[in-house]
Amino acid sequence: MTIPSLNDFLTEDHNRLDGFLESFQERKAGSFSEAVEFWTRFASALKRHLLWEETILFPLFEQKTGQRGLTDTLRAEHEEIREWLAALDEKVQQKDADSDQEIDRLVNELGGHNAREEYALYPQLDKLLSEAEKQTAFEAMSAIPEGAP
Ligand SMILES: [Fe+2]
Ligand SMILES: [Fe+2]
Repeated sequence: MTIPSLNDFLTEDHNRLDGFLESFQERKAGSFSEAVEFWTRFASALKRHLLWEETILFPLFEQKTGQRGLTDTLRAEHEEIREWLAALDEKVQQKDADSDQEIDRLVNELGGHNAREEYALYPQLDKLLSEAEKQTAFEAMSAIPEGAP
């Protein structure tokens, strides 16, 4: 069995997350309840994605390279992302559709962050990990449930 590339898998997850957020943005001025479904999927999938990186992929990268400059930067960016996520979540809970500014900030933050990971982190991990190590990483990722806090 061929193990998929981490870069392909995680880049696809970034795109899937972008799609949920776009769908939320497109629908929020019309049917807010329909928009909320996309918001819920986005927030839950993004939190899971951040946990995959923080608990599995960043430590692997540090172990393999002995460096933590890049991963520390990425972790700090995750904190920014979580702040905008929480600010938006509060607006969604209050059914407040006036959130263009927060969405712009989050899209911006995610854009730069995801590009850095797709350029510097994931391709390196694909090179540094053996097939067996990749398999173990994928298994650990699927053990983190969707909807984790
Ligand atoms: Fe990340
Ligand atoms: Fe990511």
